[in-house]
Amino acid sequence: MMSQHPPRVAVYPGSFDPFTRAHLDIAQRASRMWDELIVAVAQDAEKSHVFSLEDRVRMAAEACCSLPNVRVEAFAGLVVNFAKLRGACWIVKGLRTVADFEREMQMGEMNHALAPQLETCYLMAAREWAFLSSSLVRHVHALGGDVSRFVTPGVLRMLDTLRAGEAGDT
Ligand code: PNS
Repeated sequence: MMSQHPPRVAVYPGSFDPFTRAHLDIAQRASRMWDELIVAVAQDAEKSHVFSLEDRVRMAAEACCSLPNVRVEAFAGLVVNFAKLRGACWIVKGLRTVADFEREMQMGEMNHALAPQLETCYLMAAREWAFLSSSLVRHVHALGGDVSRFVTPGVLRMLDTLRAGEAGDT
């Protein structure tokens, strides 16, 4: 008889401004570890983002469209509250270098203090993407560099549109 258990749900939160291949690698690997993975795009009003919340969700959803147990949702407020609302018991974070460690440890400890029933799991970024960040991709692309290896085609189109808009502004 097949064992029945409630679906194991994890939340992978981030700004995803924009979603890169480093994020996709974490989402792919996490999707093999949990029954359902929710890529949770933070509204985070305190932080200024280059792309709108709607665009960040759309880009992440397009990048993850071949992963059947992954869905993308926007959330506002605390990630622990969003995770509880969705019945998730795990928060997934990607770690690149030691530079990420301190910030992630602070956030992990705070999330644990707020919701001790949630476990945060850290996946090391693939070595090939360990140097990659959304801000670096935006920066290099804005200066005319080729970032097509680092993002999916939909994200590249959005970056092109953004740059064209900025060029038009001047
Ligand atoms: O991609 P980022 O910018 O590293 O993601 C940071 C994010 C969105 C995961 C973090 O800022 C977050 O969880 N924001 C939601 C608000 C919240 O829960 N803040 C307290 C975390 S300790």
